[in-house]
Amino acid sequence: MSDPIDLAAFPPDFAWGTATSAYQIEGAVAEDGRGPSIWDTFSHTPGNVDNDDHGDDACDHYHRWPEDIALMRTLGTDAYRMSIAWPRIMPQGDGAVNAAGLDFYDRLVDALLDAGVTPSVTLYHWDLPQALQDRGGWTVRDTAQHLAAYTSTVAERLGDRVTQWATLNEPLCSGWIGHLEGRMAPGLTDLTAAVRASYHLLLGHGLATQALRAAAPGARIGLVTNHSTVEAASTRPEDIAAATRMDGHINRWWLDPVYGRGFPADMRELYGVELPERPGDLRTIAAPLDWHGLNYYFPATVADDPAGPVPYAAEVRLPDVPRTGMDWQIDAGGLEALLLRLTEDYGVRKLYVTENGSAFPDTAGPDGGIHDPDRSRYLEQHLAACARAVRKGVPLAGYYAWSLLDNFEWAYGYDKRFGLVHVDYATQTRTIKTSGYQYAEIIRRHRADTR
Ligand code: IFM
Repeated sequence: MSDPIDLAAFPPDFAWGTATSAYQIEGAVAEDGRGPSIWDTFSHTPGNVDNDDHGDDACDHYHRWPEDIALMRTLGTDAYRMSIAWPRIMPQGDGAVNAAGLDFYDRLVDALLDAGVTPSVTLYHWDLPQALQDRGGWTVRDTAQHLAAYTSTVAERLGDRVTQWATLNEPLCSGWIGHLEGRMAPGLTDLTAAVRASYHLLLGHGLATQALRAAAPGARIGLVTNHSTVEAASTRPEDIAAATRMDGHINRWWLDPVYGRGFPADMRELYGVELPERPGDLRTIAAPLDWHGLNYYFPATVADDPAGPVPYAAEVRLPDVPRTGMDWQIDAGGLEALLLRLTEDYGVRKLYVTENGSAFPDTAGPDGGIHDPDRSRYLEQHLAACARAVRKGVPLAGYYAWSLLDNFEWAYGYDKRFGLVHVDYATQTRTIKTSGYQYAEIIRRHRADTR
């Protein structure tokens, strides 16, 4: 195959993982005291999700987790990135704790550890309790404080066994896509709400970090953010300025405050929305972290778009470039560049690729197997990019393929399949795809060569 991976670049204790999130796989939305989340509301609002799909059943992981852990063992992964559903722990978002919710994750964590798989737990992967949304959601400061209280509850229960914690997954999506573009829950299209939400998400990250440090002293804490490299579509000064704005919107706005630089002045001016800032907040947001998680899928090329939405930079569709089934451009070089940027520009001292993967329309072959050469190629190219980054000095400690299973792909529903394992939703049958076997073989080779 093309572009072989320099596996020897990865350290012997490199974490080989897969990733999922609660709402995308668990199902059982009304079981054992779980309360509704904003994604239940959003997905049950007709027209919001392709085919009007929703997460009511998803992959039924809530009942089938032993089988899913067995799949991890078959793949040979030693790490698993999962999220906790806040509405299972606190159905109203604050106050009363639902013991059955904590018990579920307690059992899951024990079973993962018994299987030799280290859990990396994300506290918030977009499933805000609806009751908190009804009180303003991320646009109000209280939600950040509720995140910290929920975090304490979870850490007190699991912190003796879980060491690897992330506060938020992709606050960009919660903030911008959920509040500005309206394509994700809660489905708002309001710049003021979006800027306030972005601020409170990052404040929540800082407060949750404090809560974790207090409740689980051995915790290794990170933040998971998604980024794209941004190129100007031409050398026109207007397009170059548009690229700077887009970089501010999707990269610097989320990284600068976390790494002690405050919110970028050019973007504050562009948004023109007063931040709900209080003394000490910036220090809270910039709490020292143990690692950073990068989710990477595609690069961006933009042109000036003065009549378009903030940040007035329109994505330009390049002709003749490879794309995934999401219509996302494939460019593994972007992953390498972002890993280097986090290391060199932001001074991150430990990194994980916490998500990377591709959706393609999989179909079963005549032998019943799911043969997915496009996904295999994507995996190989991006791991090769990781290896190049490590050779250039990036302190990369692990890679989590998105995703273990085909699952509920948010506004795209179930048609978009990212799994290394195929899920037949009618029967809940799991079938490891050829890319899954390829990942297993990569892991096996790396271990054989380095351990
Ligand atoms: O499925 C999502 C995941 O929940 C967050 N990161 C991107 C993935 C693919 O779109």
